[in-house]
Parts: sequence; structure tokens; C-alpha cells
Amino acid sequence: KSDGDGGGSAGGGGGDAITMGFAQVGAESGWRTANTKSIQETAKKDGIDLKFSDAQQKQENQIKAIRSYIQQKVDVIAFSPVVETGWDAVLQEAKRAKIPVILTDRSVDSKDDTLYATFLGSDFIEEGKKAGQWLVDNAADADVDKNGSINVVELQGTTGAAPAIDRKEGFADATSGDDSIKVVASQTGDFTRDGGKKVMESFLKSQKDIDVVYAHNDDMGLGAIEAIEAAGKKPGVDIKIITVDAVKDGMTALSEGKINYIVECNPLLGPQLMDLAKKVVAGEEVPKRVVTEESAFDQEQATAVLADRKY
Ligand code: AHR
Repeated sequence: KSDGDGGGSAGGGGGDAITMGFAQVGAESGWRTANTKSIQETAKKDGIDLKFSDAQQKQENQIKAIRSYIQQKVDVIAFSPVVETGWDAVLQEAKRAKIPVILTDRSVDSKDDTLYATFLGSDFIEEGKKAGQWLVDNAADADVDKNGSINVVELQGTTGAAPAIDRKEGFADATSGDDSIKVVASQTGDFTRDGGKKVMESFLKSQKDIDVVYAHNDDMGLGAIEAIEAAGKKPGVDIKIITVDAVKDGMTALSEGKINYIVECNPLLGPQLMDLAKKVVAGEEVPKRVVTEESAFDQEQATAVLADRKY
């Protein structure tokens, strides 16, 4: 679906406004909602004519949207690829049409990096490493039943998506030196609250000794909290919870002690994206990779910043 109404029209003056076609992943999480808002608001502010589409987490919808942007001869295409693989053909089409492409938030696994101008987004492996390192550093506390073994259940993001692949890898890497930490079950919850809840309900039935939940985003962690409470246990106490994103609902749960640690993933990519788009359209050089700056929060830090959290 392309509503063509994402960011208003050309800024004043009747000059040649840049037209951007943006193919968004969907509206699966609080992070995504904040990301969409940032892109739409910045486009409007910068006088960029934004054509926006929501792919509802389906690659074929994103490919359709990109093809329609090529047909409409937009100045620049930006998208956050729902999964890593399968983009070469459509990216070749954009290249043949001489329309530059900016990858934002998530990347593709194409071998040919001339298929896109730049990739703006987080280092997801680093995020997974931060989550794993916190667990290593807090292992004594995380061994809730004090039996010397820390059993982790993992709620993975969308299968095949860069943040799901990389956050899994980073976490495994950071925890590999500690033999007491074991991932005893790992399944996708598709980055949604409902998905996280359902998978956690089934983990609570199939695994009798869960010490830690590692959720690849806040929404799945929040869904897991609901499942844990419904099972009569205290999230954050009986089962420790680590998530990624740091959206307001996640930070509220962290501040209340229901989540124990959140690694930040910054969704406010609009300003950097529009700056890159202007440069790319003007034919200026841009770095091939722009990594966003992020931190991480424990309970005390979350409480300190919560009131000012914008999303
Ligand atoms: O690609 C970024 C991830 O996608 C966010 O961490 C998650 O919440 C979103 O759905």
C-alpha cells in the first residue's frame, strides 16, 4: 500500500523539491512507529516530497513499492529491508534507472555495494554484544535459582532480518566464554508484542528452569512480561529480562524493575537520512556506512532519563 502522503509536499518557493520514495518495513513495534514519525516529520520540515509505503513486514510488498518509485522517477529511494537476502534484482533496476538508493536501519547481503549509495543505521552485532556482556557481568545475579547454570530463552526478531541475525550473533559471541550461560530455546516472535507473548507462553510450558529472557526488541520483551505474569511469576525478579530498543514502554518497564537491562537502538534516523538524501541527489560524496550512536540502560539510568524520553 502506498498512501503517497507521508511527509507533505514540496517546501515553499516552487523550486525543485527532492522526491523520495520510502519503503518502510511495517508498523510492528514502538521502535518502528518512532522511526516512521521521524522520517515523515523531517521530510516535511526539509521540504522533501515523501512518498511513503508500509510493507506490512512482507518483502514482496517492499519490492512492489520500490518498483513503483522507479516508475514514478523519484529522485531517491530509501528503504529498510525487511530481510537481508533477495534484493539484487530490484536494486539493479533502480541502478539502471539511475535512481540512487539509501539503505536505512537494516542492510542487505548483496555482494555488489554499488547497488546502493550508503547504509545508515545501527551496528546490530554490537547491540547483541552489549546485551551478552551485561549478562556475563551480572551472571551471579542472573542465576536466579543458584544452581550454577544460567538458562536463557531467546525471542528472536523476524527470521532473516539483519537485526535478528546480528543480535543473535553478537549475544552468542559475548557469552561464549562463560560456560554457565546456555541458550536453551530460541524462536522468532517477529518483533511484535503479541509474538513475544505467544512464544514466551510456549517456552514457559516447555522449559522448566528459565533464568533469563533475551528479547531482540522491547515489544517482544513486553509481551514476555505479560506471559510471565500470567504464569504467576515476577518478571525482572524470578526471570531476568534483557531487551534492545529503549522505547518509552520498554524504559518504563525497566524503571519498574520488570526489565533488567536495555540496549539502545536509535529510531530517530530522519534528520541523518534527509541530509544524506540531499547530498546523494546533488551528486556529493557520502560515506558508504553511517553508524548511529547508541548507549544502554540499567534501572537507575532508565529512571533518570524516562521523563525526557521522546518516543
Ligand atoms: O530494525 C530495527 C528493529 O526493527 C527494532 O529493533 C525493532 O523493534 C524493529 O521492529
